[in-house]
Amino acid sequence: MLEGNLQYTAKSTAKELAKPLRVAVLASGNGSNLQVLIDAMQAGALPIELVGVISNREDAYAITRAIKANIPVAILSHTESGKRMAMTTFETHASTQLAQWHPDLIILAGFMRVLSSDFIDNAPAPMINLHPSLLPAYKGLDTHQRALEAGERLHGCSIHVVTAELDAGAVLTQALLEVNPKDSADSLQARVQKLEHQLLPWTTMLIAKGVINLNSEGKESFSMLPALPLKLYLNN
Ligand code: GRF
Repeated sequence: MLEGNLQYTAKSTAKELAKPLRVAVLASGNGSNLQVLIDAMQAGALPIELVGVISNREDAYAITRAIKANIPVAILSHTESGKRMAMTTFETHASTQLAQWHPDLIILAGFMRVLSSDFIDNAPAPMINLHPSLLPAYKGLDTHQRALEAGERLHGCSIHVVTAELDAGAVLTQALLEVNPKDSADSLQARVQKLEHQLLPWTTMLIAKGVINLNSEGKESFSMLPALPLKLYLNN
C-alpha cells in the first residue's frame, strides 16, 4: 500500500518537473484567446511557457495583454521608414524572431494574414490555427454569416495544423454548438468565441501532454484515442 503511494508520488513529481511546452503566438486583434492561455499558464493549469507574441498590427490589444503578462512581443507592422510592412518582410522578421524564441509549438490565435508555404515549411515548430467554423466547412472569412445563410443546425470552431492551403490542414479538435433560430452573425460569433476559449487551452493541453503528437513536419499522430478530430459538444 505504502509502496503504491510512494510510486504515485514519484510519478507525479516527474510530471511536475517536466519542461513546459514553449509556445509562441501570432495574433492580429483583441487577443482574448491569448488571454485564456496566459490565465491558464499563470494559474498553473497548463504546462506551457508563452515565449513570445508576434503581431502584424501595432494596434492589436493582444500586444497589451502580452506586455502586461511580461511576455516578449514583436510588433511587425511597419518598416523603419514608416511604411506598412509587406508580407514577405513580415515573414522574414517573424522567422528570425521565432528562431530566437525556440518554440515547441506556434499558435495562430486570431492571426488574420495568410502565410506563405515557405514560411510554414521552414517554421521552427509545428503550427496550429484556430478557425471559427467546423472545418472543412466554411474556410476563410465570414464563417458565422455563411453558416446562418446555409441554415446550419450545428456550428462551432476547429483547431487544425497549418499548411500552405488555407484552413485545409488536418483538423485536430472541434467544439460544436447548436445554432439557435434567433442567432444573428454577431450572437453566433460571441457564442463560438466562448467555445474557442475552451477549445484552445484543451487542445494545447493535449499537445503539451503528448496525447496529440505533432512532429517537426507538422504531421499529427494520435496513438491513445481512436480518431481525429476530437470533438467537444458544448451547450452554451
Ligand atoms: C477568433 O474568433 C478566431 O476564430 C478568429 O479570430 C478571432 C480572434 O479572437 N480567427 P481573439 O483575438 O483571440 O479575441
